[in-house]
Amino acid sequence: MAEAAIGGSAEKTSHEEVGLRFEVDGEIATITLDRPERRNAQTFATWSELARIGDSLPQQVRIVVVRGEGPSFSAGIDLRLFTPEGIPGQDSLATLATAEDPTFEQRIAHAQRGFLWLRRPDIVSIAAVNGHAIGAGFQLALACDLRVLAEDAKLCMKELALGLVPDLTGTKPLVDLVGLPRAIEICLTARAVGAREAAAIGLAELVVAPEDLAEAVRDLAAALLATDRGAATATKRLLQGAGGRTLEEQSAAERREQVARVRALFAGS
Ligand code: CAA
Repeated sequence: MAEAAIGGSAEKTSHEEVGLRFEVDGEIATITLDRPERRNAQTFATWSELARIGDSLPQQVRIVVVRGEGPSFSAGIDLRLFTPEGIPGQDSLATLATAEDPTFEQRIAHAQRGFLWLRRPDIVSIAAVNGHAIGAGFQLALACDLRVLAEDAKLCMKELALGLVPDLTGTKPLVDLVGLPRAIEICLTARAVGAREAAAIGLAELVVAPEDLAEAVRDLAAALLATDRGAATATKRLLQGAGGRTLEEQSAAERREQVARVRALFAGS
């Protein structure tokens, strides 16, 4: 497995400092949340690094797998950010709370960039979730196109229990996947959703035994890689746009994409 060149050079060290490992193997990139001793809690530095990985993703990558090292996918925001001391080198929430607007919102927007690129049409992102995915951890799983869960996975939007709202891009995919009433129930009770229930309500594509998680994700990636990249990108774009279009508009979008596909196919022949 090759270590990826971010910004032109291999930077494994800096990823480790923010609790992330990034590896590329051919067309598959793997982002590993890698602070198991803190249950892969996330910080502003984690989110900056996620954004940077997205900005410099090698062109050949078609699949991005997001996984967690150790017993939990991610325990969400690093709770040290709530303390007055915060985390060395990073603003605490107490500091940000007193910052001038729009500074705080800009910080959140920057954090959200780390999640938003995972929906790019030219890639398919897969969250491989074992153990707890809490708060920012649940939202990171929701930021991915697909979710493969181990049977021990527990998803929890804990933000409300802390007096916060989910703000790392998770609310829209949650509503899109489970519908408004179920999303309200899950968020406003801050309860844990187990893997079987998650699959039943549309939050997971697949549930497997914990020891089979890596293989199940590899198999899914192989199946996704078996189709043509240009067609896959155009189809994902079509599917992503379908919810916001009428049937007529969507039909027109299909025509445009197909004309471009056929032209591309014959231009290459
Ligand atoms: N931040 C910082 N450290 C954390 C952490 C977190 N979110 N979650 C766990 N840790 C640390 C623990 O303090 C502990 O450290 P020590 O060994 O130094 O004591 C270590 O990780 C192991 O934790 P546990 O012993 O609790 O591990 P466990 O396997 O028994 O339980 C867990 C795992 C259920 C995830 C539990 O640790 C837990 O509930 N963590 C807190 C979860 C939480 O409330 N997260 C915030 C979500 S809200 C959010 O994310 C806001 C947002 O998006 C804006």
